[in-house]
Amino acid sequence: MKIKLIDIPKITNTKGNIGVIENDTIPFDVKRVYYLFDVPSGAKRGGHAHKKLKQILIAISGSFDVVLKDGKKKEVVTLNRPDKGLLIENNIWRELENFSSGAVCLVLASEVYDEEDYIRSFKEYKTFVSNEL
Ligand code: TYD
Repeated sequence: MKIKLIDIPKITNTKGNIGVIENDTIPFDVKRVYYLFDVPSGAKRGGHAHKKLKQILIAISGSFDVVLKDGKKKEVVTLNRPDKGLLIENNIWRELENFSSGAVCLVLASEVYDEEDYIRSFKEYKTFVSNEL
C-alpha cells in the first residue's frame, strides 16, 4: 500500500508559520472540513472505510497514529506535524489511535457527510474490496 504524505506549503516567519491549502495542494475539491479534538487518552476513532469519500488528515496539534488497511496489508503512519497531510483514498480501512493530550486532527473531505458511504464492519469491508478487484 502506498502511503501518500502531502507537504502543506508554508509561509515561515520568526513570529510563527502559516500553512496554506489551496488550488492543487490536495488532489480533490474539499466539500467538508471537520476536526477531532478533546479525544480522551486511549480512545480509538475511525474503524471504517468509505466507498467514495477521500480524505486528508492533518495533525494540526499534537500527534496520533493512523492504521491503514487495504484488505491485504496494514500500515501505521504517525502524524505529528501540522505541515504534513495524509491522503486516505476511498476503499481504505482506517483506525486512529494513540492520540496525545491536546491532539487535534483536521480532516478535509471530498464529500459531504453520508452514512451510506461508510463501511463500518471489517468483514463487510473485506468482502467489498475483494469484489472490487
Ligand atoms: P465517525 O465518522 O464514525 O467518526 P470517527 O471516524 O472520527 O471515529 O462519526 C462519528 C459520528 O458522528 C457518527 O454518528 C456520524 C457523525 N458524523 C456526522 O454527523 N457528520 C460528520 O461530518 C462526521 C464526520 C460524523
